[in-house]
Amino acid sequence: MPLTNRHLLGLQGISKEDIQLILDTTKTFREVLERPIKKVPTLQGKTVVNLFFENSTRTRISFELAERRLSADSVNFSASASSVTKGETFKDTIRNIEAMKVDMVVVRHSAAGTPQFLTRVCDASIINAGDGIHEHPTQALLDMYSIKEKLGKLEGLKVCMVGDIAHSRVALSNIYGLTTMGAKVSVCGPSTMIPRYIEELGVDVIYDIDEAIQENDVLNVLRIQLERKAREYFPSIREYSKYFGITEERLEKNGKDILIMHPGPINRGVELSSSVADGLNQIILQQVTNGVAVRMAILYLLGTLN
Ligand code: CP
Repeated sequence: MPLTNRHLLGLQGISKEDIQLILDTTKTFREVLERPIKKVPTLQGKTVVNLFFENSTRTRISFELAERRLSADSVNFSASASSVTKGETFKDTIRNIEAMKVDMVVVRHSAAGTPQFLTRVCDASIINAGDGIHEHPTQALLDMYSIKEKLGKLEGLKVCMVGDIAHSRVALSNIYGLTTMGAKVSVCGPSTMIPRYIEELGVDVIYDIDEAIQENDVLNVLRIQLERKAREYFPSIREYSKYFGITEERLEKNGKDILIMHPGPINRGVELSSSVADGLNQIILQQVTNGVAVRMAILYLLGTLN
């Protein structure tokens, strides 16, 4: 069964069957990554452009690796080294890149809706690698794959997203994806960082981190986005850390063997203590490894639709 859409713009509205197909295909590519030669000829002759208008380490490198491992030709675009700096518009930039005959575009941009806009101005398949505070679907898919790999299922599991829910594209994509797959999702953070009416997305709101630890199987801890003025939403980083930071003492106090996840990059000592970030409960680097396989799966599924 192919995917029902030729773009991956977000997880809002994506079907359970499509998510399951991506997760099943990821398993196949995860096995490829364990081979001595981690490369397959699947996308030979296809061209992918990675358009990054915002900084990235994990998403950018894992897309680049995924493209190479699938034998696609890939090109990297960096806004700061492009003719955007000479005043060329975003639309003209995209049309010029498309004129070079590309099959897929991976895009990260600070403006929500950029991937959707690209579907209107070019014919290539568009993959959202993070658009402002809107969605980050490949992160949520790798998070879901990692939970399933570790705990064996998604349906019925209790997963809490912790931190700045209002400004997190990771939180929103996880909420859409996890609820579609039958998980019970909650959010926890300072009231200033929880959007009004979030319950309408089918999630519970918890304001006490100890209760969140007690009630859940998984905590997916979000980065406090200092570059997006997160500091304005609580009195001090020290206070945030005191009330919402995940520390070994807090986990021990609650006597809970809970799975700890983080999309990275981590602010050590703010949302996670270093001992938790490197501790036995976390799967943070497994998430990163699985990110390559998830992105291989998405590129394969979309690349073979064209
Ligand atoms: N998780 C994530 O999107 O990390 P990067 O910003 O480094 O890509």
